[in-house]
Amino acid sequence: MTTPLYAVFGHPIAHSRSPFIHARFGEQTGIALRYVAIDAPPEQFMEILWDFREAGGRGANVTLPLKEYAAGHCAELSEAAARAGAVNTLIRRADGQWRGDNTDGIGLLSDLARLGVPLAGRTIVVLGAGGATRGILGPLLAAAPARLHIANRTPEKAEELALHFAALGPVTGGGLDTLAALGPADVLIQATSATRGGSLPVLPAGLIAPHTIAYDLGYGAAAEPFLALARARGAAAAHDGLGMLVGQAAESFRLWHGLRPDPASVLAELRALLAGG
Ligand code: ATR
Repeated sequence: MTTPLYAVFGHPIAHSRSPFIHARFGEQTGIALRYVAIDAPPEQFMEILWDFREAGGRGANVTLPLKEYAAGHCAELSEAAARAGAVNTLIRRADGQWRGDNTDGIGLLSDLARLGVPLAGRTIVVLGAGGATRGILGPLLAAAPARLHIANRTPEKAEELALHFAALGPVTGGGLDTLAALGPADVLIQATSATRGGSLPVLPAGLIAPHTIAYDLGYGAAAEPFLALARARGAAAAHDGLGMLVGQAAESFRLWHGLRPDPASVLAELRALLAGG
């Protein structure tokens, strides 16, 4: 029997850590698998995905910029993927069609739990109203915060998202200028792509208090400007999203193999690897 094949699709994809993470999960659980990174420009994604299935591909992760596109091309979507309008996990059904799921929110929640960050009854502020934010709002609201406010450069996008998720909890949205009147965030989540371009939205002084816990969905150099700002303003803690990355991978692994690996040891190994350059 050939080793079951899995992949991550994205564009670019060369620096993806997912092959490393899933190889470790496979070793940890004793499940034989091959997991590869496949570069897929959006206009070729469907063709590449077709070839992958023909080659025996059983499941895949989908990352930037394909998550929304993938959601539109699955035969079936989980509730989380349908609500987010974005897919990060493809599961091959018995009939060969793809079911799309989204494990980003569960990945974030599992990492916040690991870090001991309380959410129930707290004020959560999310910066950004793009695809990354769509993926995490459902699970964040399920954690019963007192309030969740989305602040975005383009106010309408934050307002639309707040409306879209209103049935799930007390969520509001507006422009970055709405942050000034908000007071301090208990949990402040950086979900814009601004730092990929090296810039950061301007944040009012009162947003970060000594009890604020800051979390950037990115990691490495992309997370540094926001985490440095949070530390400089005296936040209680500032965490990058490496634990979320491993957490979403663990949940994808569970969906494919029926077994949830332990993310902790893989996270420690990955962090050491990144620190070593
Ligand atoms: P992703 O899937 O990473 O969320 P996206 O869907 O393109 O990517 O969304 C990017 C988010 O980062 C958006 O909220 C965007 O704000 P706009 O909706 O106004 O475009 C935000 N963003 C990107 N660059 C930014 C910048 N320089 N300052 C503030 N926000 C920025």
